[in-house]
Amino acid sequence: MKMLVLGGTVFLGRAVARQARDAGHDVVCAARGESGEPVEGVAFVRVDRDRPDGLDALDGTFDAVVDVGRRPSHVRHAAESLRGRAGHYTFVSSCSVYADAATPDQTVATAPVMAPAEPGFDDPSADAETYGRCKVTCEDVVTGTFGTESAFICRAGLIVGPEDPTGRFDYWVRRHARGGEILAPGAPEERVQLIDVRDLADWIIQAAERGLAGTFDAIGAPVTRQEFHAGLAEGAPSAHELTWIPQEFLVEREVAPWSGPRSLPLWLPLPEYGGFLTRDAGPSLEAGLRTRPLAETVADTRATLRDEPHRIGLTEEEEAGLLREWHAQ
Ligand SMILES: NC(=O)c1ccc[n+]([C@@H]2O[C@H](COP(=O)([O-])OP(=O)(O)OC[C@H]3O[C@@H](n4cnc5c(N)ncnc54)[C@H](OP(=O)(O)O)[C@@H]3O)[C@@H](O)[C@H]2O)c1
Repeated sequence: MKMLVLGGTVFLGRAVARQARDAGHDVVCAARGESGEPVEGVAFVRVDRDRPDGLDALDGTFDAVVDVGRRPSHVRHAAESLRGRAGHYTFVSSCSVYADAATPDQTVATAPVMAPAEPGFDDPSADAETYGRCKVTCEDVVTGTFGTESAFICRAGLIVGPEDPTGRFDYWVRRHARGGEILAPGAPEERVQLIDVRDLADWIIQAAERGLAGTFDAIGAPVTRQEFHAGLAEGAPSAHELTWIPQEFLVEREVAPWSGPRSLPLWLPLPEYGGFLTRDAGPSLEAGLRTRPLAETVADTRATLRDEPHRIGLTEEEEAGLLREWHAQ
């Protein structure tokens, strides 16, 4: 199969290119080459999707295209350029398209999406809502151009694993590797949900091979926070104990959710985000998504961590200070 990856210089795009190459496919990656390098053994074409004619350097037809775009203009340029030249088109969208982040256990069939971005609006970076609305526009362009029989709209949830540039999951892998008393946010029975980048890449490749089309969430089944920490602890070099600290205490002390400095990554306020990490993965698992054990993702992430200071999360001092205050109460 000849596969075009629009991207392929970072995380998911690199994983798709690597795994498609290893499966014997003929892979072309197309990007500017600013975010990183494509994997070895694939063709690389330098393109700039900011320009309407930016994909002119891509000749011929492709059995499959994988697009990780976020800007509506990028996806429009690709759709115009590749119309009639792509057999199967995967658009990697996001669970951020959903209008209701609060209700748990939703499926694609039951969950309404946000309105598309305003016409001409093209900057997904402002906040989660504009990102989600831009993704809705991109989905519409892809389905409108390539048709429901060829478009695979793959709404990814939290993607984790080796080479993750965000550092969110890495925070927890590093934290468990250090051991000792760990501040665990929320409550053990709350849920969290993620997908290993390699499982997502496998499913995308499989979808192209099988001609799977339609709209799906790309996320594994939720696990409890207790199970999440148990997976992180498996094979960790140091012993640990968890201290669960409820949301109210953390919010009062201005600990940020999800990401960023002085945050607890992968932790989201409830009940507002009670549906964000608890989607029903059933339909995607029925459609061929396979997910590896969490402990395997953790072990492989741990093995590839680079020796760099925390970019996000709590520093050692911040965590120790919060634990002291908690115990002093
Ligand atoms: N991480 C998560 O947890 C998460 C969750 C839900 C959904 N998603 C979605 O999953 C996908 C992740 O994709 P990814 O890991 O491959 O990372 P990404 O950061 O989305 O990659 C963007 C790719 O597009 C290329 N690119 C950017 N601007 C370009 C331009 N003007 N012209 C040509 N190429 C351009 C970049 O390469 P160059 O900079 O080298 O050009 C890069 O390869 C995205 O669609 C994201 O929205 C992610």
